[in-house]
Amino acid sequence: MFKEMVFTPNEFALLAKLDKNFIPALEGEGKIKTHRKRIGNVDRKIISLEEVQNFFKMIREFDSNQEPAKDASEMGVGAEAAGAAVTSESVATGMMRSVTKFIAANPSHKVQMFYNVKGGTGKSTLTAQFVMMASLLGYKVLALDLDGQGHLSVNLDIMDAHERPTIYDVLINDLPIDQAIMNVAPGLDLIPANLQLCNIEIPLNNKTRREYRLSESIAKIADQYDLIIADTNPAASILNGSMLVASDRVNVICATNPLSFHGMSLVMATIDEMQKEFRKNLNVKIIPNMYDNREVISQEVLGELRSQFDEFCASSVVNRSADLNEATKRRTLVWDVNTKGTAANDIADLTHELLR
Ligand SMILES: Nc1ncnc2c1ncn2[C@@H]1O[C@H](COP(=O)(O)OP(=O)(O)OP(=O)(O)O)[C@@H](O)[C@H]1O
Ligand SMILES: [Mg+2]
Repeated sequence: MFKEMVFTPNEFALLAKLDKNFIPALEGEGKIKTHRKRIGNVDRKIISLEEVQNFFKMIREFDSNQEPAKDASEMGVGAEAAGAAVTSESVATGMMRSVTKFIAANPSHKVQMFYNVKGGTGKSTLTAQFVMMASLLGYKVLALDLDGQGHLSVNLDIMDAHERPTIYDVLINDLPIDQAIMNVAPGLDLIPANLQLCNIEIPLNNKTRREYRLSESIAKIADQYDLIIADTNPAASILNGSMLVASDRVNVICATNPLSFHGMSLVMATIDEMQKEFRKNLNVKIIPNMYDNREVISQEVLGELRSQFDEFCASSVVNRSADLNEATKRRTLVWDVNTKGTAANDIADLTHELLR
């Protein structure tokens, strides 16, 4: 479970891209707090989820208060950071400066949606991993489940979504949006979804200003969050259209298989039409998912995506990995499953990219 995640100092070093030998310096200066916990028969030094979040929050404040480093090469990770310490600053400060390189003080796009009219491309999986990872990195996140299947809610370990209010109650029954929000973990809130949401299209269609209702509701609580992230249903629905109106960025999840690639022109045309209709200037990112570098077809599709949609393609690629299925099964962040696997690395890279 994400909210109960703990990190060993080595795992934390991997997450913060720091040399593990320098973690004691951070501890010594009180920048990161550890405590001892008995796991099985062993007494281990661990860092709690909230301590990790506090560390990254401090990094973000540090980033926005600091002058840019004069000589970037001096401020590298690990041993280089220690070198910086000798010249001008403490080891801990040098290390913190190196972390600011990949942790944005403020996300460039606050409201984002994960989208594809095609089903099964990995939208819910990547939305869940992204919101958990962003919250681990100290951002205050609201996740919006806009799919009646409720998979984002399940991925975030909410198993009683059928008893809870959803965005249906907000948009159709005028429930104040803050009353539909629940807390999932420290720094991570959710508006869950259940089957009721499958019936929203007709009543939503009959509402005045139907496509604007969601963005007007989101605007009421936007100040309370650093990020507002929606998982959507696999259709060109009014609800998805409403989320496009509310969003600053659309992340199109494309599985690296031929049919998923074939559907991309339609998806991009739909986004284009919506932008014209609602006078939006959305940032669009295409995220290749389920990539397998041993498969020629995977390589071909990635090549085609990059040549046809070059300006929109994310530099991150999410490889196919059993760790992501395991994370879904355990309803947790992939870092909770395997810290050293490609999936943990892919999700971290993707998160850093989507925050820039
Ligand atoms: N990179 C990956 N590697 C391995 N399995 C993956 C990966 N991404 C997603 N999956 C698996 O693919 C399946 C479909 O993923 P998911 O439910 O996230 O897709 P979706 O686009 O949200 O589907 P829908 O359109 O039904 O909402 C799930 O079983 C998920 O665990
Ligand atoms: Mg889904």
